[in-house]
Amino acid sequence: MRRIGGLRRARNPLLASALHLSYQKRMTHIKSLFATRLYHAALSEHKPPVDAEELRVSCYSIAEDDDAGQDWCEEQGYPGYTSYASLTDLPWRFPIFADVVKALDKHVAAFAKDLEFDLDGKKLKLEDIWINILPEGGIHTSHIHPHSVISGTTYVAMPEGASALKLEDPRSQMMMAAPIRKKGAREEMRGFIYVQPEVGDVLLWESWLRHEVPMNMSEDERVSVSFNYGWA
Ligand SMILES: [Fe+2]
Repeated sequence: MRRIGGLRRARNPLLASALHLSYQKRMTHIKSLFATRLYHAALSEHKPPVDAEELRVSCYSIAEDDDAGQDWCEEQGYPGYTSYASLTDLPWRFPIFADVVKALDKHVAAFAKDLEFDLDGKKLKLEDIWINILPEGGIHTSHIHPHSVISGTTYVAMPEGASALKLEDPRSQMMMAAPIRKKGAREEMRGFIYVQPEVGDVLLWESWLRHEVPMNMSEDERVSVSFNYGWA
């Protein structure tokens, strides 16, 4: 009989004992697949260092002069200020933003390496960069950044009580009947992650990762600069 089946093997005592041994050796093993990576670093880790105070002052002076941006925020009911809809050339207008982009380019390249992207000889390039000033009580609701590869934020003013960044498990819409995770579940198992960055930090994630800024409970404004990188 040419067929090698479990029953036929079991009749051979030597084979049966070898099989038994191999089953014993096979230990239970659980591993994590399909990783969601989050990059967290100091913006000035790479040169040139970015002058945090000059960046903060520049954000406020740009916001004050940007009438079109202020009008857009008012029309849209956007809390605070964003330059997203009005200024598309910050790195060309303001040298401090050119420094920020030089630093970000290096961080994004390092993250792309970690993600093991095959960029086919091309680079990830800045598409947009904009200022966010979130006052007390302001929120930025859950969203993704379509058409981009890497998105992120660098933090300019994070007063005590300023909201964290909330990240959501990208598979949550598929969890039709899954129970919620236990309180205190280990980080990689949680459905939501809150990251509390400090001034001068940069966070990067893949642009499909849903995120939001919960309500700013600080009396002072939370200031950040966000950006998108695409595959040029
Ligand atoms: Fe965002």
